[in-house]
Amino acid sequence: MKTSILQYAALLAVTSLPASRAWLPPVDKIRGVNLGGLFVIEPWMQATSWSTIGCSAYKSEFDCVMNLGQEAANTAFQKHWDTFITQDDITQIAGLGLNTIRIPLGYWIKEDLVYSDSEHFPQGGFTYLERVCGWAKDAGLYIILDLHGAPGAQQADQPFTGQYASTPGFYVDYQYERAYKWLEWMTNVTHTNSNFDTVYAIEVVNEPLQTASSVTTMIDTYYPIAMSRINSMEEELGVATSKKLHVQMMNQKWGSGDPTKALTDETYAYYDDHHYVKWTPGATATRDAYMQHSCTNDRGGNTPVVVGEWSLSPADEDGSEFSIDASDAVSWYSKWWAAQTISYEKQAGWIFWSWKVEKIGGRIDWRWGYQQAVAAGVIPSDASEGAKSTVCDGY
Ligand SMILES: *[C@@H]1O[C@H](CO)[C@@H](O)[C@H](O)[C@H]1NC(C)=O
Repeated sequence: MKTSILQYAALLAVTSLPASRAWLPPVDKIRGVNLGGLFVIEPWMQATSWSTIGCSAYKSEFDCVMNLGQEAANTAFQKHWDTFITQDDITQIAGLGLNTIRIPLGYWIKEDLVYSDSEHFPQGGFTYLERVCGWAKDAGLYIILDLHGAPGAQQADQPFTGQYASTPGFYVDYQYERAYKWLEWMTNVTHTNSNFDTVYAIEVVNEPLQTASSVTTMIDTYYPIAMSRINSMEEELGVATSKKLHVQMMNQKWGSGDPTKALTDETYAYYDDHHYVKWTPGATATRDAYMQHSCTNDRGGNTPVVVGEWSLSPADEDGSEFSIDASDAVSWYSKWWAAQTISYEKQAGWIFWSWKVEKIGGRIDWRWGYQQAVAAGVIPSDASEGAKSTVCDGY
């Protein structure tokens, strides 16, 4: 299938219109933000909400709901879903020249997948997902729905999976089956509920383990079956080929192996690259080395690829060069933001992590919050400006 994917990539490169067999947003580049912390809370970036819900003593949604009790948890989480991202947030996002949102979701938003005797998650989230997608559609934003917290947990000790699991239990057939059911359901919802009209991709699992050898079944089994189950659902629904969803997988650069290895048809394949420079081996933590890295680094490989998570956080967050209190912090971080957008716009574009954060370590750290970075003057009010800038000249 290599020839056809090359032809397909060439087609995408020369036209901004949707390709003939499937659709991608008719935009020059994807420029977006993650709605991190809405449906899957990460306490490190949301200490205030976490505490308001009553979860301060717990490490993950699972632990918190188990301890609060189902009914109290539902009430508290519903309040969070109702208030953390409002229609005004969505309007602001669109007003900043952004065209896309990625929405991290847990498998538990499809409530009948949850084992009621042993798993604990808040209930009632779907209504809020429907609402936020409707707002996004009205604001002209495109949407990626991301299975961020997979059944059984795709990583150990990571609250982004919704649980603080001691082992990553996702990589077995019965957990895959739960994920396929989620994907089929989400595919159905996307094509039959008009609030979801601007959803163009479903990501089949966020950030699996980075040891390819321990997750071979994911490449050999999960990706190809996930793709065919989505496709079969679309056939059953009679979806026109031009309206079919893209199916997103982490790219090879993520470190879980080559996602294309067992795919027989890549027409609808779409890739996600997460690039946090702070955790990138070889990127020395100095301002100059970071600029050098971002200006020259190549995120290509599996295409089309969007850099679906990245931030402005350095390895040495409070070192003298990187302190956000340095007198020239705003101007330097502004350059590094632009350099990163230049890098990612060499591919299909980017989605920042995250739209908003609450106080981290007692202060607003705009390196993780797009809204806060705009307010601080670090990110301009037109997201396309970075790639037009000259910050990489000389690198
Ligand atoms: C799609 O979802 C609707 C509403 O839940 C349901 O009635 C219908 O049977 C589903 N379609 C398929 C093909 O599963």
